[in-house]
Amino acid sequence: MSKRVLTTESGAPVADNQNSATAGVGGPLLLQDQHLLEKLARFNRERIPERVVHARGSGAYGHFEVTDDVTGFTRADFLSTVGKRTEVFLRFSTVADSLGGADAVRDPRGFALKFYTEEGNYDLVGNNTPVFFIKDPVKFPDFIHSQKRDPFTGKQEPDNVWDFWAHAPEATHQVTWLMGDRGIPASYRHMNGYGSHTYQWTNADGEAFFVKYHFKTNQGIRCLSSEQAAETAGKDANSHQTDLLQAIERGVHPSWTLYVQVMPAAEAADYRFNPFDLTKVWPHTDYPLQRVGRLVLDRNPDNVFAEVEQAAFSPNNFVPGIGPSPDKMLQGRLFAYADAHRYRLGVNHTQLAVNAPRGTEAHNYGRDGLMATNSQGRQAKNYEPNSYDGPAQTGQALSAPLAVSGHTGTHEAPAHTKDEDFFQAGELYRLMSEEEKRRLVANIAGGLSQVSRDDVVERNLAHFHAADPDYGKRVEAAVRELRDA
Ligand code: HEM
Repeated sequence: MSKRVLTTESGAPVADNQNSATAGVGGPLLLQDQHLLEKLARFNRERIPERVVHARGSGAYGHFEVTDDVTGFTRADFLSTVGKRTEVFLRFSTVADSLGGADAVRDPRGFALKFYTEEGNYDLVGNNTPVFFIKDPVKFPDFIHSQKRDPFTGKQEPDNVWDFWAHAPEATHQVTWLMGDRGIPASYRHMNGYGSHTYQWTNADGEAFFVKYHFKTNQGIRCLSSEQAAETAGKDANSHQTDLLQAIERGVHPSWTLYVQVMPAAEAADYRFNPFDLTKVWPHTDYPLQRVGRLVLDRNPDNVFAEVEQAAFSPNNFVPGIGPSPDKMLQGRLFAYADAHRYRLGVNHTQLAVNAPRGTEAHNYGRDGLMATNSQGRQAKNYEPNSYDGPAQTGQALSAPLAVSGHTGTHEAPAHTKDEDFFQAGELYRLMSEEEKRRLVANIAGGLSQVSRDDVVERNLAHFHAADPDYGKRVEAAVRELRDA
């Protein structure tokens, strides 16, 4: 096969890719050297803003296959038949560090899944943790600022990390989770994924249910200790990427089993705690796991930038039969993601191959903008209603309506009988073996002992005491020992 000719962006042949053009031998460069100018200019523009959180990640394609009948709970077409398969793209990530950070760190992991269904793309943007640090989106930028680099020192600061938590008692559950053994997964394959929020499912009869998603890894849970993680991060900063890429290239296809917890909508108001509180789990004894299907990843992307860096997930991409719950955090996220994509990737990010629908086509009256490639055809009108048989609304809401009452205002969430912030943190602590407790306490003390202000330390200790007296006592002793050393 004859070698293909190297060309400029406009397709013209390039004469020399080793020597730039000069005025005479040894002379200055020529402005007419289009190949050089274009090559340097294009290189300057290779980077786009990284994600403000979850900057570092890895992605893969695969499929989701329904194994169990859930049509009693949702009319979502991709879940309608046992055996039905839907193509998916999953991006895993760490949260706090920048694009160049290490994978083996103590941090939640993102688990962002795009189902390319025949009714449009369904994005389920979750984490490897069933809960989160806060329960109101207005706190999210402050929370993230406290966990990322300090604007003056340019480093992550224990003072900031723990100062935020000192003022966020609701974070105690997730802090316990993060500082425990599962806080550093050994790889993306060896961790669970959770939708974390409560979502709403609606069946064909219009009945509404609240659901929580659990993707259980079929590879088994594997985690790293803080010491193992430091060593791994030093040896291969890309350890999670290496693991995922190589496993799939070797034909070892990771899989997860999807379960849901299902709460009939009428039970939400009187549940003993707010079922839309993202800092709490629903005990499985109240709402057992029900199997739905199997997720398999079997194909690496061909180009990391095009398909992983440019992947855009939005929790507001729902399909018929699935919708949001009134969880305030989720509601905030319904705005935040698509807005982030419009800034990071542009208004036409939905036309990029990884983000465009695959099971169906998008037909609407949105047009133009930077990098528009989809003309929608010569005959297509760009206004509606029209007399030209353009795409029309269905008149069918995707999900059931939520009943609301009362006055607008900056309200706290509605009170339930057992809403306090600490009991589930205590329950998680009490579930741990003695060895797990020892590592948890050491991990917390390692960070908290570095905090410079006593009042911030004391406030945090009070949270662990409130979760469980033994937990509080042990963290306090370990912190005092390290601070006195
Ligand atoms: C109000 C709270 C939150 C806000 C405002 C928020 C906002 C954001 C933003 C702006 C991004 C970057 C998007 C991009 O540039 O592509 C992001 C990424 C992400 N967030 Fe959140 N987030 C919130 C809470 C959460 C929670 C609770 C979870 C998990 C349950 C989560 C999971 C993720 C994941 C997995 C990504 C990475 C998506 C990807 O792989 O592209 N976030 N978030």
